[in-house]
Amino acid sequence: MKFFLDTANIDQIKKAHEMGIIDGVTTNPSLMAREGIKGEKNILDHYVKICEIVDGDVSAEVISTDFNGMIAEGEKLASLHEQIVVKIPVIESGIKAIRYLADRGIKTNCTLIFNPGQALLAAKAGAGYVSPFIGRLDDIGETGMELIEKLVHIFDIYGFDTEIIAASIRGTHHITRCMEAGVDVATCPLEAITGLLKHPLTDAGLEKFLSDHRKLNG
Ligand code: G3P
Repeated sequence: MKFFLDTANIDQIKKAHEMGIIDGVTTNPSLMAREGIKGEKNILDHYVKICEIVDGDVSAEVISTDFNGMIAEGEKLASLHEQIVVKIPVIESGIKAIRYLADRGIKTNCTLIFNPGQALLAAKAGAGYVSPFIGRLDDIGETGMELIEKLVHIFDIYGFDTEIIAASIRGTHHITRCMEAGVDVATCPLEAITGLLKHPLTDAGLEKFLSDHRKLNG
């Protein structure tokens, strides 16, 4: 399973990159706003900065909702850096834009997926990735992981090349379930990834090893 970092925060991206465990980054307009990045030039520069830190795909989301606006933005974003993947919402004009960009060799990530039908249409349009949101389904009383499991199964049946990014991950429990489901990618906040390291027996075991060593060695 690949790990993407779901943030536009440069310090966190550097930290995760230095740990050597991230395969890419996903952003969205809310994450960019959280970092205070505003104005087209600053936004585009920020995407380039992220690409220069990490080695893998970096998703940059369009703001337009009409077909012409989406493809113009998509082409501009894709021209910024070879690692940029154009993130497009799963609406009718978005599906059309995904097909247009795919036919021109531009990789897309279809976002805001909440049911299997949306993911199927995005895959048929040629999306490189689909991003189903786990946490937001949990928020409304559904079980987001069930959607991930269904998509892994459906994409396997039809042999789609499109990769599934489990998004809207809220904690280690989601990551563990994603591993079990065999999802291609989990895009996560840094604390959810580092949370995987935490176990009281690891802490207790390490403390005992070190204290036994100190008893003999001072
Ligand atoms: O990248 C999109 C997604 O991961 C958003 O997550 O926590 O805002 O639902 P969240």
